[in-house]
Amino acid sequence: MKTIALALAAVAGLAATGAQAQGYPTRPITMIVPFAAGGPTDVIARIVTDHMSRTLGQQIVIENVAGAGGTTGITRAAQSQADGYTIMMGHMGTHGAAPALYPNLKYDPTKDFAPIGLAAGTPIVIVAKKDFPANDLKGFLEYLKTNSDKVNMAHAGVGSVSHSTGIFFNSVIKVKPTMVAYRGTGPALNDLMANTVDFMTDQIVNVAPQIQGNNIKAFAIATPERSPVLPNVPTTKEAGLEGYEVSAWNAVFAPKATPPDVVKKLSDALMKSLDDENTKKRLLDLGGVIPSNAERTPEALQKLVESEVARWTPVLKAAGATAE
Ligand code: MLT
Repeated sequence: MKTIALALAAVAGLAATGAQAQGYPTRPITMIVPFAAGGPTDVIARIVTDHMSRTLGQQIVIENVAGAGGTTGITRAAQSQADGYTIMMGHMGTHGAAPALYPNLKYDPTKDFAPIGLAAGTPIVIVAKKDFPANDLKGFLEYLKTNSDKVNMAHAGVGSVSHSTGIFFNSVIKVKPTMVAYRGTGPALNDLMANTVDFMTDQIVNVAPQIQGNNIKAFAIATPERSPVLPNVPTTKEAGLEGYEVSAWNAVFAPKATPPDVVKKLSDALMKSLDDENTKKRLLDLGGVIPSNAERTPEALQKLVESEVARWTPVLKAAGATAE
């Protein structure tokens, strides 16, 4: 009797899912952005969801849920109703570095999500306040090495992109600046521009406009090639720093049990947004990297998350980084 009941329940569930997915979405969708408004994750989320909303015919409403390097917001999103009406913007920090830094993390990036797709690649730039007493990477590194006890580095919380790429940077050049946590690198950038915090390693989409506006200093970009939007910023290699090449990425996820038809609708809408000329231009103008078609699938994102967790865990453990 029990078997028949379970079978009937499963069929009913599938039927409901099918019906639910058929009409999906019938009301606005919430996208949780796990950092403060105005930072790189928030900016990318607002750019790609603008066109996604048009494709889906329902508004995607951004909800900023900051804290604990993005893990607070992602935990909430992971535990939300898996009906397609709560999705999230995660990234290399929340879905790559976090497991190495939070022993009691309440989610497994490789198991607890339905990947939707990659939104944008984000090269990392080493930036400093305008008053920083150095005018190139060589001078910056020299100053850091002799004054690291007097220098403070901004980041968006343990496990964030700015924190994990900052820890990696500090371990490569063997310095230990004071780490100053913010609820996002949007607020951190405000303090950098106010000359109240010294430097950070941040995603290009956040800092490019302020570098172009000469409001902060950029010493190098941590990619093999220069960025077309920052042609005068040398790569770390060109500037004489070996062993520090790192890029981040931002991607859309849904809770694990989200129905496959709903996942496909969200994935299709994201892919369409990345084919939209205006969306692409807005991301490219900020130095973002548009994923190729092969990189945009849910399967590709799953593989990326698995490889990033595997990559960042030893790097951060070697750097002696912990959340507590
Ligand atoms: C980070 O990981 O540093 C975040 O992306 C910063 C932010 O989006 O505010």
